[in-house]
Amino acid sequence: MTTIQLLARKGGAGKTTLALHLAVAAAAAGRAVAIIDADEQASALAWASRRDPDAIPILVVAGGRDLGQTVGRIDADLVIVDSPPSAQTRGAWQPDRIIVPVQPSALDLGALGATLDLLGGRDLDAMAVLMRCPPRSVETDEARAYIRDLGLHVAQTTIGERRDFARALAAGAAATEYAPRSRAAQEITELLQEVLA
Ligand SMILES: Nc1ncnc2c1ncn2[C@@H]1O[C@H](COP(=O)(O)OP(=O)(O)O)[C@@H](O)[C@H]1O
Ligand SMILES: [Mg+2]
Repeated sequence: MTTIQLLARKGGAGKTTLALHLAVAAAAAGRAVAIIDADEQASALAWASRRDPDAIPILVVAGGRDLGQTVGRIDADLVIVDSPPSAQTRGAWQPDRIIVPVQPSALDLGALGATLDLLGGRDLDAMAVLMRCPPRSVETDEARAYIRDLGLHVAQTTIGERRDFARALAAGAAATEYAPRSRAAQEITELLQEVLA
């Protein structure tokens, strides 16, 4: 089993969007996938309740205080944890990988320090993913350089600002299902390969 946690101190960074999209893409690639919704806003659980019963099954469970215990009850190849902005990583349980979504804006990059403090000093396998990037922008290149200077690995794949992500989630789906030929779908497929590599 591989466990991946989406982590960012900033609300609206794209944690839930990436958690659900990576989960669906991995399930479509043949893995048994479960999501732990550790956010009291319960967006992932609400998404699951909108999901077409005929779609690829993805187990979504609420995360309790003890994530290790929740993970221990799950039988899956891949467990993806969607976190609230207040998430801690100092408990006994540690994910195999951490993904930090961050938008290439000064405000979001400024808030990245708080997320890095969470990871601080420990040898965690963490990777930033640039979210909502405008096309071919200097901001995206600058953000990449800035995050690398902070010592955090940045995914090669960037995720654009695309309505298909929100539209798909509203329909209980992911962009790979809702608009399979879209750029959004293509980006997620590429990102999944990078994440699982
Ligand atoms: N790549 C994107 N393109 C367009 N909208 C996005 C993108 N990523 C996230 N959003 C939107 O931004 C908002 C916050 O995203 P969300 O995944 O809920 O963030 P978090 O879980 O970190 O709070 C949502 O309305 C979502 O639809
Ligand atoms: Mg969220």
